Amino acid sequence: ESYDMGGHDTYMHKEIHEQADAVDRALRGRIDDRFSTVHLGGLNLDARDARAVRRVKILGCGTSYHAGQIGAQMIEELARIPADAEPASEFRYRNPVVDPDTLYIAVSQSGETYDVLAAVQELKRKGARVLGLVNVVGSAIARETDGGIYVHAGPEVCVVSTKCFTNMVVSFGLLALHLGRTRDLSVADGKRIIAGLRKLPEQIAEILANEAEIEKLAGEYADAKSMMFIGRVRGYPVAREASLKLKEVSYIHAEAYPASELKHGPLALIEPAMPTVAIVPDDDLLEKNRAALEEIKARSGRILAVAHQVQEKADHTIVVPKNEDELDPILMGIPLQLLAYYTAKAMGRDIDKPRNLAKSVTVE
Ligand code: AGP
Repeated sequence: ESYDMGGHDTYMHKEIHEQADAVDRALRGRIDDRFSTVHLGGLNLDARDARAVRRVKILGCGTSYHAGQIGAQMIEELARIPADAEPASEFRYRNPVVDPDTLYIAVSQSGETYDVLAAVQELKRKGARVLGLVNVVGSAIARETDGGIYVHAGPEVCVVSTKCFTNMVVSFGLLALHLGRTRDLSVADGKRIIAGLRKLPEQIAEILANEAEIEKLAGEYADAKSMMFIGRVRGYPVAREASLKLKEVSYIHAEAYPASELKHGPLALIEPAMPTVAIVPDDDLLEKNRAALEEIKARSGRILAVAHQVQEKADHTIVVPKNEDELDPILMGIPLQLLAYYTAKAMGRDIDKPRNLAKSVTVE
């Protein structure tokens, strides 16, 4: 990608629209149809090493941390290795127990975020194996880690990360498939995930072609003082990232909660002035998610659903194409990037450089 604006009014808009190509680049040359797996050249982890991994711990900040949360779920689902993500900024200050059988993964667009770099250095000092999942080639985190995956999103200029998030999640999908195929993920499941990955660029283009509808919806919700984002399991990190996007670029207050937690407190906030954005994939939790929509509707809450089919209880639904259940989170956040962009645009915000934020936080 070039720095030429190519007719886009902001880098955010340009970068959102580069996602189909960016994902295509992340997949290129990596898929191995013969063994229904992927080749990740820079990983430095042979099959024996991969099989010896007992846990995966993913560290990142902000959007990269959210990508890591989705990545952890993918690794658990496809490779059946216990995995979780934690903000690198928290991890490094809590004297963590560093376990030799754990694979640590540092996620970063810039590869220069100080909290992530400091966590990597501390882990290395304690003898841990640390991989990087990084966008900027040759960056500090890429250099300090034992190996890793470049996410190949191309240069991301807007302070608000969009295409890099998507490519990080795709890269986690590749890693989960790779780890899974060294363990118990079947050839049939490997093939299924590969077919799903290959569909992504076209499906992203389909979502982006729906832009005019999302622009209209942004107009409907731009009057909100505060918004709730909910999702369950795979949808929860998507909700968190979408809520961060809206906050960063529009300055509208937003909260993200697991849909299952609503009744434990946040339901008290629901009223017409607090709309909810709900992530409602067609997976085994569909009925549970629908029940949450009913609870919100019963309290006169407005609902915008991102779903694979129109949701009766929602005031509006953005319908996104269905992929494999495990890969759905990659697509479900994309319309919400556009929602954040159009909301900020309607409010006259400085979209590429939101107040108080820097593209990469290289200080403590
Ligand atoms: C994303 O929109 C943010 N501006 C921010 O949360 C960012 O993801 C975070 O600072 C981490 O940056 P990195 O990926 O370059 O490490």
